[in-house]
Amino acid sequence: MIPIYLAALLVCFLSSKALAGAPEIGPFLFPRQLNAGMRASVQCAVTIGDPPFEFTWFKDGQKLVESSGVSTRKIDDFTSNLVISKVEAGSNGNYTCKVSNSAGFDHKSAVLSVKGIRLFVYFFLRHKQ
Ligand SMILES: *[C@@H]1O[C@H](CO)[C@@H](O)[C@H](O)[C@H]1NC(C)=O
Repeated sequence: MIPIYLAALLVCFLSSKALAGAPEIGPFLFPRQLNAGMRASVQCAVTIGDPPFEFTWFKDGQKLVESSGVSTRKIDDFTSNLVISKVEAGSNGNYTCKVSNSAGFDHKSAVLSVKGIRLFVYFFLRHKQ
């Protein structure tokens, strides 16, 4: 037999997990027509779950390094915003937002692909010949 206090502890533990719902992130996408120089912004919004949440952004699986052109900002308890002020070839990648709370975590990703880079290189190389 499990001692009654251990059973009570277990129930408390399980119900506290159940009370704080694990987060779920709504899907987000970068615009398909994203030309070099444009501003790109996506929102990672938690649709289910209980705050407080911790938001973490990754690019290609690595923790996102914020620089002058790349920033993330927590808008409210449920939302974090990623802004790339001027997309360029180096902005291409798979961006992931991870949200966690005491009950669990979720992550969603979106691929950013800048248009016009290949075209630009093509014209540049043609010009050089
Ligand atoms: C983007 O990254 C996520 C998390 O690492 C991964 O699950 C997903 O398959 C990746 N998507 C693409 C298109 O590479």
